[in-house]
Parts: sequence; structure tokens; C-alpha cells
Amino acid sequence: MKRPAWRLLPGAIALGGSVVLVGALPARSVERPAGIERRIEALLAQMTLDEKVGQLQQLDGGGEGDYRPEHVELARAGRLGSTLNVRGATRGNELQRVAVEQSRLKIPLIFGFDVIHGYRTVFPIPLGEAASWDPAAVERAASIAAAEARAAGVHWTFAPMVDIARDPRWGRIAEGAGEDPYLGRVMARARVRGFQGDDYSRPDRVVACAKHWVAYGAAEGGRDYNTTDVSEHTLRSVYFPPFRAAVEAGAGSVMSAFNDLNGVPASANPFTLTRVLREEWRFDGMVVSDYTSVTELINHGLAADEADAARQALSAGVDMEMVSRSYATHVPRLVAEGKLRMAVVDEAVRRVLRIKLRAGLFEAPYADPVRERATLLKPEFRAAAREIAARSMVLLKNDRGVLPLSPSVGRLAVIGALADDRAEMMGNWTGDGRAEDAVTLLAGVRAAVSPSTEVTYAKGVTVDLKVLADPAAYEASDRAGIEEAVRVAGAAEVVVLVLGETGGMSGEASSRATLDLPGRQLELAQRVIGAGRPAAVVLLNGRPLTIPWLADHASAILEAWFPGTEAGNAIADVLFGKVDPGGKLPVTFPRTVGQVPIYYNHKNTGRPPDEKNKYTSKYLDAPWTPLYPFGHGLSYTQFRLSNLRLVPARLRAQGRAEVSVDVENGGPRPGDEVVQLYVRDVVASVTRAVQELQGFQRVTLAPGERTTLRFTLGPEQLGFLDREMKWVVEPGMFRVRVATSSEGGLEGALEVVPD
Ligand code: BGC
Repeated sequence: MKRPAWRLLPGAIALGGSVVLVGALPARSVERPAGIERRIEALLAQMTLDEKVGQLQQLDGGGEGDYRPEHVELARAGRLGSTLNVRGATRGNELQRVAVEQSRLKIPLIFGFDVIHGYRTVFPIPLGEAASWDPAAVERAASIAAAEARAAGVHWTFAPMVDIARDPRWGRIAEGAGEDPYLGRVMARARVRGFQGDDYSRPDRVVACAKHWVAYGAAEGGRDYNTTDVSEHTLRSVYFPPFRAAVEAGAGSVMSAFNDLNGVPASANPFTLTRVLREEWRFDGMVVSDYTSVTELINHGLAADEADAARQALSAGVDMEMVSRSYATHVPRLVAEGKLRMAVVDEAVRRVLRIKLRAGLFEAPYADPVRERATLLKPEFRAAAREIAARSMVLLKNDRGVLPLSPSVGRLAVIGALADDRAEMMGNWTGDGRAEDAVTLLAGVRAAVSPSTEVTYAKGVTVDLKVLADPAAYEASDRAGIEEAVRVAGAAEVVVLVLGETGGMSGEASSRATLDLPGRQLELAQRVIGAGRPAAVVLLNGRPLTIPWLADHASAILEAWFPGTEAGNAIADVLFGKVDPGGKLPVTFPRTVGQVPIYYNHKNTGRPPDEKNKYTSKYLDAPWTPLYPFGHGLSYTQFRLSNLRLVPARLRAQGRAEVSVDVENGGPRPGDEVVQLYVRDVVASVTRAVQELQGFQRVTLAPGERTTLRFTLGPEQLGFLDREMKWVVEPGMFRVRVATSSEGGLEGALEVVPD
């Protein structure tokens, strides 16, 4: 075994272009303004136990943003700390007024809501935003969402979801940044900054919540809420880093997950909630449970009853209970009986009050309905949504330059049920987004073509949740729909074929056992493409789909995810070449569901796949390689990488090397490329992934333009957690690759020499 030459604390991170050596610092000393801490203690000293426990209770609204009569009673009695889903300036103010003017201690409520990818102006689903590889754009989207939400009386969003997801069967893959810890960190940080800015007491910011702590995305079989069993090493190397980045970026809150984690459910896990989050990372914000995840400890078989669940969750570090009421019901008695220390309750209350104070709720508890009206869906927000959506699209395939389409083509056919459905443009968790605001793909195409172009449309086949369960039920209507679509396609010069999932097929409780196109969409595609017209496929979906037939037969495939309110315009911008598609996959596309989990940063194994040797790691009935690799994405122009330089090529463990590469737009159009840096530590005391992303830059270049990009490799990128969970850089060889996806590119070597 090699001697560790350099050590940091666990979890060193490096973000975006700039390197932040967080882990090397002594434990972070959190700056707590004395004023806030004094106010917390003064309040705490006046609170009865019931009032303390009241602060730890969050209840759900009554639907459609409303509160319930019970909330009024509880708020008046000081027995409610927070609600979720109550929103709208006027309604929120009504309930807030009771807490602030009629309760004994006048502690304001904090209103939480799932503002996941927009409040009223809906942006691409988070997986799509991550595909932009553009943290500045993602930060901007979150800041607009925050401005709208806060104006509507929402103080706190349950976002970003920063769960690493290596299994596309898991529907919630749509809500995160995909499979990679590095990209996950960059996006986590961008979203937290976008929501909170530097100061979330401002009237256009909200408190962020990194969720779901932790390893929720590792659900066995990809089935939502299922058990997870993940080694500490993998937790710290893969699943923790985006959370660490969110905490370092100042996230005010963290949500404890539903899943059983190595035998101790995440909502009662002292290791993750206290040791890592509080002691190692010095997180001083609040932890909220997930929806009833505290009382679900009974189903997990960890808690005997609700009182036991409350005791375990609160002691482990869950401060606020979402929806279930085990704290409110049992904590006073548990304290009286000496089963729970008052100090534990006090600490949870401190954390809740701290966030309320930092959010400025005591000074400005109310929202302003005039500001709300003036803020929602501003034209500039829509313009940003259009731009960001276009930046999130990934061109998977483009044979013979079928795309971009000419806007003055004579006859263009749009085929597919999703093309003409406003609600389906926005995906899952759409905040207060409204279907009536959304631009459909069909409308976007119609608006983009020249007046002489005739756009025809056919729905084709049914795409809805029922068709997933029972495709046969649609047999007759779908057959007729396919015939009609073939006729419409045959009469056009070019076809835009829109395929994919509905928004409800991904997201929470929306796992799938297959990843095929739902219903008879494949048959539709085979018939339409078989008719012989050039066809560009646009995919709308919240997860990777298995589309090997399309990959072989469609002329072009544009992955559009769910682009949001401005979907149709953004898709048209890319289809007709106003915008060059510059997105890249944040997740691997498998060929078949049987390959899952398949991810780019896997280990090498003792028998890496070898075509010529049967006894190597492969399948008999499918290739081992993905359909489209992580980081893949084409452009309408061609980029060339050249002149990879590593200086110095030999360095000591604490040293730094500069990696530079020239990138040139050798094609005829302006365009975007995402240049990606991958590193492999060839031999180490713990086996390493065959490659790990350690940097990227998205650039826009004019035709013929060339630029030099520089990356830095130092201990944060070359190190890893050793067997004792210490960050080390070990001497030896490192392969460094600069590429436009996780395959190919230019490779060089770096040697770390002993000190
Ligand atoms: C989800 C969370 C969400 C919460 C509140 C839960 O079911 O898992 O992600 O924030 O509900 O809506």
C-alpha cells in the first residue's frame, strides 16, 4: 500500500472554476451574529414546553394554497411553527397575523413550499437544468423562483434536491442533478445561492433546504422509499458531497430522508444527522423531517410507537416534524418522564428560531400583495426561462445535419400527443405554475416558422399514466392515431416527432420498472420514421429512457427534458437553430433497463469487459456500454480539442498542476461546447473509479474562433478518502483526460511524487 502523502479532513470540495479547499480548513467556525443568538435565548427563556414543541411542528395546508381552521387555533396558541403549501400573499398574511398579533410570544410562522424549478414561471426540471452545465444560468433560475415565491409569501423552499441518482428507474432522478458528485456539487451550490443570495431576509430570497439527507437516490431496485445500504466510503465519496456543498454555500435547512440507511432510517440516524452534519460540518441551521418520515419509523421497525419515534428522531437531530404530530403529542410527556432531555428540545427550538430570525420574519412577517402581483410571471422572467430552457437541451444525435430545420420549409408535420399539451411542458413539482401560461411545442413551432410554412399536426397515440399500466386499453384509438400520423407525416417535407413521458411519470412515487417509451410510442415512431421523411425526434421526459431503436433510425434526437413555461419557444429556438444546443447529459442513458445501475464513474473490476474474453464483466444478451454516455451532447457546429498540456507533469502531493487545452469551433456556425476534465488515479490504497469529472467549462465560440481553457488539479481533485476516511493524495500515476463527453478526448499523464 502506498503511503498517504497529504491529508485533509473528509469532504474537501472544489467548485466550478474556483477551487475551495473547504476540507483542509479547521472545522468551520460558524459566524453567528450575537444579536440573533441573544434574541433566541431571550425567547427560549420565556417559552413554555408546549410553545417550544409548537415551534417544532409543521402542518400541511388545506389545498390550493389555503390554510385550515385548525392552523388558526394552533397559531394563536403558539403550537404551530410552520406550514407547507400555504401560499399567496393575502392568505399567508391572514394566518401570519394570528401568530404575530394574537399569540403570546408573537413568533412568526415560516411558510414552506416545494419551489423546485420555479414558482409561477416554471424553468426546466432540475435534471434538465443540470444538463445545461451552466451554474450561472441555474443560479439565475433559482433566484427568479425565489423572487416570485417570496413575493407570494413563501419563505422557505424544499429545494435543492441534491440526491445523487444512479438509477433512472427512480422517478425522483428528475428532481436532482443526475449521477455525478462533482456536477452535483456545482449545481447544489448554484441553486442554494440562487434561492438565498447572500442574505435570505431580503424580500426576493427564500431559505433553501438541501434534501433528502441522505442516500435516498440509492433506493434498492429504483423503487421510491425503498431501503438503502451504502458503505460509509461510498456515502462520503458519492452521496455526501453535494450536501456538503449546499451546507458550505449556507443552506439554511436540510431535510431528513424517508429511507432506511444501513439499518438506521435517515430520519433517526445520529451518524448522518448529528455526527456528520452538526459535528463535522458545523451546520447550525434546521433539519426538517420529510413528510411523516418521523412516524414512519414505526413501519421501518425502528420505533415501537409514536412516542418512541419522536424520541428517536428528535434525539438524532430532526428539529422540525413535517405533518405527523408525534413531537407535539409526546415530547412534553417524554421530557416530564425524563426520557428526553430538555436540552435536546431547546437545541431544536434554537435552530428553528435561528432560521426565522435570519430570514427576517420578525421584522417583516408579511408579504405585500401589490408586490406579488407585480412580480409573478414578469416578461423578463419568461425571457430567462426561455433562454435557460434552450441551454438545457441536449442534441443526442444529428445525422446528415437534419437539424437545424429551416424556418421556411414548405410543410412541416408535428406528431405526438405531448406536443400539444400545455401541462405536459412543465414536468413534475411545478410550484404554482399554471398550464395556461405554458407555450406548447406545437405553438412554439408555429410561432417560429415563416408565414408561408404549413404546419400540420397529428396526435398519434395516447401518452398518459393509464397507458403505462395497460397499453392494450388504447388499442383501437391508437391504431387509428398511428394511421393518421403516418398520413400527416407522409404529406410533409420534414417531421418533428415528439415522444416521451408525461410529467407524472417521473418525480415522487413515480418509479418505473422499464425505461421504454410508454404506450405505443415506439410503434408510432417506427411507422412515422418508416414513412421515409426526415424526422427529428424531440424527447420530453424526466429520466433517461431506453431508446435503442430511435438511436439507430431517427435522423436526429433532441433531449428537451421538461422545459417549463417557455417550453415551445425554447424548443423552437433550438430546432430552427436560433440557439445552438450546448447541453450535455448529466446522467448515463442505458440501452436496456437490465444494465441499471450504469454510470460513468464506475470501478474497473478485476475483469474489465473484454470482447474477446468470455470470463470478463459483461452480459450475454446486451453490450456493457451505454447508449449515450454521461457528458454526451452534440452541437450544430464542430469543435476540436488540441494541444493538451499538463504543467508540471510531475508534482508533489500538495502541489498543483495546470491543465490547458485549446478548443476551436471548426464548423460554420457559432456554438457552445462543454469541455470536461476527467481524472483517474491508476493505483491507490482504495480502488478508484475509472474516471471522475473534476472540472468543466461551457464556452461559446464563433465560427473559426479558438480559445485556451485552463483547469487546476490539486489535492482536492487528486485526493480521495482512504480506508480510515481521511482525505489523501497518494504518489503514483494519474491519467488526465480532457474531452467533450465521458468518452474519447485527449489524454495525458501526471505523476505525483513522494515528498
Ligand atoms: C417529498 C419532499 C417534499 C415534501 C413536501 C415529500 O413527500 O419527499 O421532497 O419536500 O413531500 O412536499
